[in-house]
Amino acid sequence: MRQGLAWWQKGVIYQIAVPSFSDSDGDGMGDLRGIINNLDYINDGTPNSLGVDAIWLTPINASPMLDFGYDVSDYLSINPRFGSAGDFLELLQKCHERGVRVIMDMVLNHTSSEHPWFVGSRSSRDDPRRDWYVWRDGKAPGKTPNGWLAVVEGSAWEYDDDTRQFYYHAFLPFQPDLNWRNHEVREALFGVVRSWLDRGVDGFRLDLINFLYEDVLLRDNPRKFGLRPYDWQVHLYDRSQPESLDAAKELRRITDGYEGRVLMGEVYTDTREDAVAYLGDGTDALHLSFYLDFAQRKWKAEGFRESVGWLEEHLPPAGWPCYYLNNHDLPRTYTRLGKGGDAEARAKVAAAMMLTLKGTPILYYGEEIGMPTSKVPRKIMDDPIGKKFWPIPVGRDGARTPMQWNGERNSGFSRGEPWLPVDRSYRARNVALQDDDTGSLLNWYRRLIWMRKERPSLLLGSYRTVEGAPKGVFAFLREYGKERTAVFLNFATRAAAVELQADEVRGRKPEVLLSTHREEGIEMHPGKLELGPDEALLLKI
Ligand code: NOJ
Repeated sequence: MRQGLAWWQKGVIYQIAVPSFSDSDGDGMGDLRGIINNLDYINDGTPNSLGVDAIWLTPINASPMLDFGYDVSDYLSINPRFGSAGDFLELLQKCHERGVRVIMDMVLNHTSSEHPWFVGSRSSRDDPRRDWYVWRDGKAPGKTPNGWLAVVEGSAWEYDDDTRQFYYHAFLPFQPDLNWRNHEVREALFGVVRSWLDRGVDGFRLDLINFLYEDVLLRDNPRKFGLRPYDWQVHLYDRSQPESLDAAKELRRITDGYEGRVLMGEVYTDTREDAVAYLGDGTDALHLSFYLDFAQRKWKAEGFRESVGWLEEHLPPAGWPCYYLNNHDLPRTYTRLGKGGDAEARAKVAAAMMLTLKGTPILYYGEEIGMPTSKVPRKIMDDPIGKKFWPIPVGRDGARTPMQWNGERNSGFSRGEPWLPVDRSYRARNVALQDDDTGSLLNWYRRLIWMRKERPSLLLGSYRTVEGAPKGVFAFLREYGKERTAVFLNFATRAAAVELQADEVRGRKPEVLLSTHREEGIEMHPGKLELGPDEALLLKI
């Protein structure tokens, strides 16, 4: 019955920030063996574990770690801080033994400035690798080649005194952009991708996939009004060029040569059309595309409903939705969406939404126990963006603090000094405590995830909103064959009455599948129901 869907459509993906998950050797930084040691937590095949189907690891390649590993200095090796090549293969094997897939982060837009390719490229204009990066003369003495801005700050061009040219960096100056127009570069990167596929990884999360190419004529972007300098330009020529989509398609062709692999892409853009465009026709580009619009919504039923509705309407026919609410770049859900309300109750409603919508959910480590966005003091910040803009709170360290395993020293994350301090909430909020508490957020996530697996309507059913949902309530139906699941999410702190249409209940008595407020198995009145404040209710109809 469920054959039609690939694992990455049925499954739940769990993002692990490798430096922060679990440290096995006491150096204060998480590592691959730390993940191996916690595989039972991730999925032991029973509802006592989270039961996720895949893990996505933040970059694990060799790197000076100036940007959390998104500055790769060797694509083919493992960062020794995280372990050895053998550790990685062991992780892969142990995950596969339990049916858990492993997705690697792949940063193909830029390398670290310490990558030997760039070291060569920078050494002389005659170096064979000079053209592997985007080098240009200034427009005039003392002027950059054009007015493009870096995502983080300032000009996207950095002057090299020795060779007297500028190199291009869409992100930070130590992350020079590779020149995708050079076929040797393309071949080298496709070779990297093949090499990891050959080693057995189940797919990639592609960093800044719409940034690979820039306009060949380096035309200046039109100006516009915006809040931060990067938004003062319409990014017409420095991102989302047609050639980047072609590259995504080429990557898909390569990936399709292997069985059951997935490409999920970070399309960094402010237009949701772009995110959808990278799915191609749904079969020839990315399998999954990150939908930032959803992740940025405020705590409002109507906003989420609109965001989901838009995606449902604009996906290519064979396209598949994908949702996330937080990650290593964004504030944590518990804090952001919980603000101004009952954060715990809202986290449960948000989890129910994530795990019952049509599409692939990506959860972020610690989300399942309600880890908050931590306040990391300036002097121990690690994130270059946080340091640069302090005290403006744009830094990302707060969402990257160590996993809170228990109430012991360093929250059980490490026996050494953690690379980032553990959030102070750890004594009250940790895995060990929540494990024992049937009403905990962790057990709520587990129940949702395990129930999902058993209900084809939730995995592959159609999606439509419930007509009579009042303000503040996001309600939808998922249907597959004879099975129907109705989901009611009350975003408001007051009770709400929902009127169900005759065709929605089909003359049956709905039964509680799962609720934050009531017992499972209770039969409900077919036409009308009263939702409690902040209630998440799933009904079997
Ligand atoms: C997006 C990643 O998610 C972010 O963490 C990183 O800093 C930039 N890309 C640059 O690679």
